Amino acid sequence: MTPEALKEAFTSADAVFPTVTDRIDAEVLSAEPLRARLIGNFGVGFNNIDVEAAKARDLVVTNTPDVLTDATADLAMTLLLSVARRSGEGERHVRSGSWTGWRPTHMMGTQVTGKVLGLIGFGRIGQAMARRARWGFDMQILFFDPYPPGDDVLRDLGAEARGSIEAVLEASDFVSLHCPATPENRHLISAERLRQMKSGAFLINTARGDVVDESALNDALEKKVIAGAGLDVFEQEPSVLPGLLDRENVVLLPHLGSATRETRVAMGLKVLENAKAFFDGAEPPNRVA
Ligand code: DGY
Repeated sequence: MTPEALKEAFTSADAVFPTVTDRIDAEVLSAEPLRARLIGNFGVGFNNIDVEAAKARDLVVTNTPDVLTDATADLAMTLLLSVARRSGEGERHVRSGSWTGWRPTHMMGTQVTGKVLGLIGFGRIGQAMARRARWGFDMQILFFDPYPPGDDVLRDLGAEARGSIEAVLEASDFVSLHCPATPENRHLISAERLRQMKSGAFLINTARGDVVDESALNDALEKKVIAGAGLDVFEQEPSVLPGLLDRENVVLLPHLGSATRETRVAMGLKVLENAKAFFDGAEPPNRVA
């Protein structure tokens, strides 16, 4: 929605349910006379909302955790497998009619089974990704998270904590990002951090676009600093850096993390569950502000 349409919504409705593309900033929240009392975000990530500005206007903010964990982890694994096994490139090859037949060295990719997966962020989605990688692909799991889960979770997944992002980057064959898009995490994956990755490693991002410095990533791919990337999110969605569009060693998806019918229905129901609780005078189960 346009900022004007969003402002109008805040003056005419009791609750506003934005999606990831609706930027609820201080300007939108300056709408007068303010009628809305609730922002029920249709998504778990709520970096589209200026939470401080919402609090300043006594608005309650909710999100939709849990219900999209599996769908998002499935998509992170899809990207990991696709970029390692060159499936996007292979599909384009077949569709363009360029395929001339099986050859021993044709389009060789990178083995996934048994490799090291490094997770930056080990919350719900990071752990779900670890389960797939550990139990489906016998991968060794390393992670960095300032708020690690309990020892039972680590034991279960054979996951090992590292004390810094750098320590994860330098030891991993695949790095998957599962951290929130806070101001501190903007360009967390910078040119310098990309250089700390192995030259044969792959970066997977299903978190938020601005966690990665997209132009530094494009440069790193150009100079073969890393082997490839699988991206579902971008700094300026729906725009994608032109350099990335031309690269065969990048798999690009249009922010599909939670895009299954089952998950999107569950997200909608969660938005409504929170709104019902709020308007019934109870604490919404997924209140974030
Ligand atoms: C989320 O919920 O944060 C997703 O990125 C939107 O599908």
